[in-house]
Amino acid sequence: MQPLSAPYPATRFRRLKRTPALRAMVQEATLTPADFIWPVFVMEGADAEDPIPSMPGVARLTTDRIVKAAQEAHGLGIPAICLFPYTEQALKTEDCAMAWDADNLVNRTIRAIKDAVPEIAVMTDIALDPYNVNGHDGFVVDGEIINDESVEALVKMALAQAEAGADILGPSDMMDGRIGAIRQALEAEGHRNVAILSYAAKYASAFYGPFRDAVGASARLVGDKKTYQMNPANSDEALRLIARDLTEGADMIMVKPGMPYLDICRRAKETFGAPTFAYQVSGEYAMLQAASQNGWLDGDAVMFESLTAFKRAGCDGILTYFAVDAARALAS
Ligand code: PBG
Repeated sequence: MQPLSAPYPATRFRRLKRTPALRAMVQEATLTPADFIWPVFVMEGADAEDPIPSMPGVARLTTDRIVKAAQEAHGLGIPAICLFPYTEQALKTEDCAMAWDADNLVNRTIRAIKDAVPEIAVMTDIALDPYNVNGHDGFVVDGEIINDESVEALVKMALAQAEAGADILGPSDMMDGRIGAIRQALEAEGHRNVAILSYAAKYASAFYGPFRDAVGASARLVGDKKTYQMNPANSDEALRLIARDLTEGADMIMVKPGMPYLDICRRAKETFGAPTFAYQVSGEYAMLQAASQNGWLDGDAVMFESLTAFKRAGCDGILTYFAVDAARALAS
């Protein structure tokens, strides 16, 4: 058998590293604005924004400002925007009824974006945590997160979002059976073309901390999410979850968080060949921003290196708070 590379000097790897042109010729992974899904935080009110201290450079925006942001994102070639609502603690309830209210903040914002910038794909998050008094993604009864009743609520939430015009639904709750239940309900209600991007391999991660500040959930989370999100030590289980969700009707799958789980991205893509996304989550963003604000890392360089790594690992796209910054830099 031939050796994978011939010995020196037949192979000098430095030959193709010598100039930018030669390096560009043999570059494997590339990054374009079409690789990004931009997660944004929406709040009630008009013409206002509220910076999130643990996510430097990210603010909650009112619906009108989200619409402007969506216009800008579309102009930069970003194909999709993903909405997360900020809910005042006083408005959270145990029955989470606001989650499927046709006129809740998310559903109003979907309509506003689809009216103004119909070309951009609007993605939503399906989970009860923004509306739940205890911060959990499903209903809590006697200290337990109950699966099947939660799935019924998630289905109502999904239908309300589809009705409002969402293009992509993102169930992030990790209840069992939710993808199948949502897919069946969408078919039954005439929403045949609404796509599902399943948060299939979602780990119980400490990297979600800043996000929970952003949506106002951190103060009230009772306990942790380990009875439904994955153990960070597991890899085979991720493949089984992805297989299950694809069988139940997911069109695309996600691995979350991103950077510490690139091995999962690679295995997922190689095993299924399905459209595979990674979520570079709030804590990953916060780490890079904090270090670059201190002058410890070069912000632009680590942004591009981390985003390119997702492509190299096999991802088709990345949910990232850097979407607009990266797209702007790519355009210049
Ligand atoms: C909630 C949800 C979370 C994130 C997205 N959807 C937090 C959680 O599971 O507690 C985290 C995203 C991020 O950290 O950027 N269903």
